[in-house]
Amino acid sequence: MASPLPPSASALSVLDVAPVLPVVVVTDAADAVPLARALVAGGLPAIEVTLRTPAALEAIRAAAAEVPGALVGAGTVLTPGQVGDCVAAGARFLVSPGWTDALLTAMQASGVPFLPGVSTTSEVVALLERGVTEMKFFPAQAAGGTAYLRSLAGPLPRARFCPTGGIGPVNAPDYLALPNVGCVGGTWMVPQDAIAARDWARIEGLAREAAALRKQPPPGRRAFSAGGTCR
Ligand code: 3PG
Repeated sequence: MASPLPPSASALSVLDVAPVLPVVVVTDAADAVPLARALVAGGLPAIEVTLRTPAALEAIRAAAAEVPGALVGAGTVLTPGQVGDCVAAGARFLVSPGWTDALLTAMQASGVPFLPGVSTTSEVVALLERGVTEMKFFPAQAAGGTAYLRSLAGPLPRARFCPTGGIGPVNAPDYLALPNVGCVGGTWMVPQDAIAARDWARIEGLAREAAALRKQPPPGRRAFSAGGTCR
């Protein structure tokens, strides 16, 4: 059963929609709608469809148009041109593994929330300087994991993260326990073999387990303006 976004979702940050952001790779756009339905039914309404396959834009278009309750965004956004393509396809947020000045400028002008990727302290400081407080931490495990993020919380308390890369059901709770983590991202609930088999029930079950990894956002940190709110 699809669970619609709460009425206040328009004021929520991408980081606060759900504890887990599925990172989806689809090779056949026809899979996008049943896949998104399974994720929403499992309790994960925010879905990052990565631009890693030729089918990605059509997958975003289909899921955004046809799946009530889904908040479909685009991931692996690497160029300013892709920013426009994704928004035109209906993406309601944008995620990148890293950022450049040109990409960030395009994301800031896009009109939708975005999570630029960082893996170093200087990149975080540079984003804060540009007014961006929410970002993806990637590749999370390889870049220092929970110890690194915990170290950033003291000097850079305004920065909030969606760590992604090497995260699964075992280590996700450690990330979600950090004060500067809003949600974690990952592919573990959308395994390629399940997509290939069109085993939507399995994906819904994995999504349900992931959605049970609850995180309570710190009081007063649910709504963000620049680059951070869902529309
Ligand atoms: C991403 O783009 O966020 C990562 O590729 C996801 O990494 P994972 O497969 O280790 O979850």
